[in-house]
Amino acid sequence: MTPADFAALAEEIARETGDMLKAKRPARPEVLQTKSSPTDVVTALDRAAEELIRMRIKQARPGDAVLGEEGGATGDGAVRWIVDPIDGTVNFLYGLPDWAVSIAVEVDGVAVAGVVNVVPRGEVFTASLGGGAWLAGERLRCNTGVPLAGALVATGFGYIPARRAVQAQVLAQLVPQVRDVRRGGSCASDLCSVAAGRVDAYYERGPEHWDYAAGGLIATEAGAVIGGLNGKPANPGLTLCASPGLFEELHDLLVPLDPERDG
Ligand code: IPD
Ligand code: CA
Ligand code: CA
Repeated sequence: MTPADFAALAEEIARETGDMLKAKRPARPEVLQTKSSPTDVVTALDRAAEELIRMRIKQARPGDAVLGEEGGATGDGAVRWIVDPIDGTVNFLYGLPDWAVSIAVEVDGVAVAGVVNVVPRGEVFTASLGGGAWLAGERLRCNTGVPLAGALVATGFGYIPARRAVQAQVLAQLVPQVRDVRRGGSCASDLCSVAAGRVDAYYERGPEHWDYAAGGLIATEAGAVIGGLNGKPANPGLTLCASPGLFEELHDLLVPLDPERDG
């Protein structure tokens, strides 16, 4: 299959899953379990959505590996699907519009397709390697030539209090140096916002592979750079995404603040 074929299949699955979640979301979803902290929640629909995605992948591509937030790593093989069934579960719980189904496909560790279905907004972002990033038939381009002082920067916070305390310290240093900050509540949607020019940059300490795999490809296909600190690829220590130039400026502001620490 080509990257475009993988993107089409991922889109079909992300749309079906989004439709299921929209139809089944109760007015007040119930918390089923907490994970890393009392505020890190799972609902029955996080699990049901991942099960549906895994079933559809298995039907279409029985030999592929899957890494999913709820079900962990299964299978092996050159093709691996990276799944966050609901990115932005707290928004899902409260009825805020920034939650998304995020699905990426990697071949030999390289992302070749990415789909982020921001269900409440009815927006399905797609990208394939070398094929551009798209929303509703329009090709996406990130903002370019924005200096740090003029940048609108999205970020997020983890679920562990000690990590949040550091994140707040880092943010206190950053806020006076940029246009403003936004905390949307979904890493995948934030990266799509970089791609669509709705924000100029995104950074966060803590996002996992399933948070940024699909959105990261969408952002890079829209002309942005995604990475970690000091030449590392995007990783839970720190993930940073912006157009070339702004990426370096934000990177150099963050490094001395030591944002990868947890206390
Ligand atoms: C979270 C969201 C949030 C980010 C957290 C993630 P979840 O994912 O992407 O915006 O700040 O780091 O864990 O738990 O809603 O899937
Ligand atoms: Ca997530
Ligand atoms: Ca999730």
